[in-house]
Amino acid sequence: MSTPSNAIESNLVENRVFPPSDAVVKAARVSGMAGYEALCAEADRDFEGFWARLAREHLQWNKPFTQTLDESNAPFFRWFGDGELNASANCLDRHIGTPTENKTAIIFEADDGAVTRITYKELLGRVSQFANALLSCGVGKGDRVLIYMPMTIEGVIAMQACARIGATHSVVFGGFSAKAVQERIIDAGAVAVVTANYQLRGGKELPLKAIIDEALAMGGCDTIHNVLVYERTKTACNMVAGRDKTFTEVLAGQSTECAPVAVGAEHPLFILYTSGSTGKPKGVQHSTGGYLLWAKLTMEWTFDLRPEDIFWCTADIGWITGHTYVAYGPLAAGATQIIFEGVPTFPNAGRFWQMIERHKCSIFYTAPTAIRSLIKAAEGDEAVHPARSDLSSLRILGSVGEPINPEAWMWYYKNVGGERCPIVDTFWQTETGGHVITPLPGATPLVPGSCTLPLPGITTAIVDESGQDMPNGAGGILVIKRPWPSMIRTIWNDPERFKKSYFPDELKGYYLAGDGAVRSADRGYFRITGRIDDVLNVSGHRMGTMEIESALVAKTDLVAEAAVVGRPDDVTGEAICAFVVLKRARPTGDEAKAIATELRNWVAKEIGPIAKPKDIRFGDNLPKTRSGKIMRRLLRSIAKGEQITQDTSTLENPAILDQLAQTN
Ligand code: WT7
Repeated sequence: MSTPSNAIESNLVENRVFPPSDAVVKAARVSGMAGYEALCAEADRDFEGFWARLAREHLQWNKPFTQTLDESNAPFFRWFGDGELNASANCLDRHIGTPTENKTAIIFEADDGAVTRITYKELLGRVSQFANALLSCGVGKGDRVLIYMPMTIEGVIAMQACARIGATHSVVFGGFSAKAVQERIIDAGAVAVVTANYQLRGGKELPLKAIIDEALAMGGCDTIHNVLVYERTKTACNMVAGRDKTFTEVLAGQSTECAPVAVGAEHPLFILYTSGSTGKPKGVQHSTGGYLLWAKLTMEWTFDLRPEDIFWCTADIGWITGHTYVAYGPLAAGATQIIFEGVPTFPNAGRFWQMIERHKCSIFYTAPTAIRSLIKAAEGDEAVHPARSDLSSLRILGSVGEPINPEAWMWYYKNVGGERCPIVDTFWQTETGGHVITPLPGATPLVPGSCTLPLPGITTAIVDESGQDMPNGAGGILVIKRPWPSMIRTIWNDPERFKKSYFPDELKGYYLAGDGAVRSADRGYFRITGRIDDVLNVSGHRMGTMEIESALVAKTDLVAEAAVVGRPDDVTGEAICAFVVLKRARPTGDEAKAIATELRNWVAKEIGPIAKPKDIRFGDNLPKTRSGKIMRRLLRSIAKGEQITQDTSTLENPAILDQLAQTN
């Protein structure tokens, strides 16, 4: 771990400030900075009392908890440990008998534009039915279920049904490969897979079940006894007798009632794999009680949710954003939400804006990458500009997943929000379960490019490598000093890695986020300057450089050595750049192009298309120190196309730099 040099260098000053209007402040749940500060003061005064109050007010408990926080086995913290509840009951059953029961829970817009609506009551029936189907397959409390589904109501139903019976789900994003699925099945010890025959994206029918078949055929997946297949399209897919069943088959005759199983607050609700600094993805384990509390509460605080809102988070359920702000948060909070199956550019790049108009969306939450690509599209084609749609229903905008550059922020603010909607730039991670640093729409004056201030009860700080606080204006390492309810509980199967990755000895027991950050001298606002480890953020997707390197060197007939770095990209935030030494002579011209294509396809097979390197450069060697260490710092400069100004005297082979600077 090292102090991020970029954090210290990039101390840009952003002078524009956008305070919330008086009307917005007046109507807000957390009203004005005074409202925010009152909550912070409550947490300061009585940390455990604050969280206990919220957990009692916002969740329905089958058995009330008596102990709020148990730190006796730190950093394996326990929250509300002796309480019992069910997550699905807290998302669905709680609304039955209230006016929310007949409210639309989900407005689903399919890839082809077909719209389906489902009420809370209907959703409860469908979730219960699917929960009964899982039970009939022998899946029960404590079992792990791998979900590999398209963005559909059925995807959410599968997750909620697992929660209902106390099974732990592990959703894998549909863009991951068979190999990635197989590794996750083995690591999680999953007993069943829930998938679809195909997924529909951008007018194309893409196989999902075939990838599951391929994963299971790779071996080591003997724990899987059932594969449940949602027939998203009419196209047939291969079915293995005895193992595979269609949704129609398993749902036939199942009751629409299924009693939710009360579990301990610490019972693992889900495992979600994410990239770290080694080649092996980490199974981030989340709890039931603490996680759900924060999913509901941040829906209400960060988005200032009101009963009449139409909420739309564009994230896929395969990522944490789709867990917290699609599958759990909106339902726990009783919101009406939009779920979209397709892609923002089909049938044209105006799709998001047209959908906001069509469904009268009032809270819109998306990633900077999407905004940047839609800015480009709108610049090139007036017909897909947001001005062509009626966006007057919008009241709050959100950004998530990567830093939003001030230019994109201003465009979003003006062209989508009509200079009327606050933008909440929410900083958080798979590990934090929900938002940790974000403006509150009716409280925080906004500064473009800054995620502003931590939520009440979240003790973020910027420290140096020994855990000493840094003054405002100076960059450093982002930490969270005290535990919070929705934090990661452990890495599935690897508690040692959990301790080492997030609670390194030098940091005095603080949670290490893995990002660099700087606080502004005037307001103490946080700005995230990027990862300080070997993790990349490509289009808001988290990728480990080592993971991609391992995939490349696994092509043993061709690759001798590989080093992967990120470089800034206007649209995707970061782009993957791979430096490769082959086992044969360094290729040039058409041969280099052909091998680069072969390697890209190989990485797509090993990890998934999202991990394909944008640039591949071939060298006779890689820049190394005399002790054999690859100098990634230099590779990052080369990838950016910078002149090398760093000291290269410790390099074993300085001549290699010119060679690697050449693109194919
Ligand atoms: C990493 C976590 C947040 C959920 C989706 C991504 C980066 C996330 C922001 C933001 C600057 C951000 C960080 C973080 N990140 N949100 N608002 N501003 N950076 O979750 O895949 O676990 O990635 O995304 O680098 O560590 P994830």
